[in-house]
Amino acid sequence: MIVGIASDHGGYTLKEQISKFLNRKDHTVKDFGAYSITSCDYPDYANLVCDAVEHNEVKYGILICGTGIGMSMVANRNPAIRAGLCKDNETALLTRQHNNANVLCLGARVTNPSLVNNIVETFINAEFEGGRHEKRIKKF
Ligand code: RB5
Repeated sequence: MIVGIASDHGGYTLKEQISKFLNRKDHTVKDFGAYSITSCDYPDYANLVCDAVEHNEVKYGILICGTGIGMSMVANRNPAIRAGLCKDNETALLTRQHNNANVLCLGARVTNPSLVNNIVETFINAEFEGGRHEKRIKKF
């Protein structure tokens, strides 16, 4: 699977962890930056990943900032994007099953890093359930 990933400075370390994890699992990771912990603006990176998801260059996007909130706010302004801010496995599973999320947002300052690989794996492997959830998504 091809996954697009980006962070700001606050999410950089977690982005590197996730990229290595996905590579180990034989996924292809397209890294849109940031490439260091130098201070930068999260909207610039959110938009790069969302454009790649919108144009089917990647199947899913992963966005990481300090809280995950800024990244999710920016991502959800793109009508092609359904971004879910997740802090655990259950929210990662349900945002795929119920919201058909195509972008996973994570907060590096508020999420236990030891849980993150699992959250990512749950998100990318879960299937949208359709049915009543499809009807609701059409109302977005
Ligand atoms: C950057 O200082 C911080 O505001 C950002 O990482 C994020 O938490 C925004 O929502």
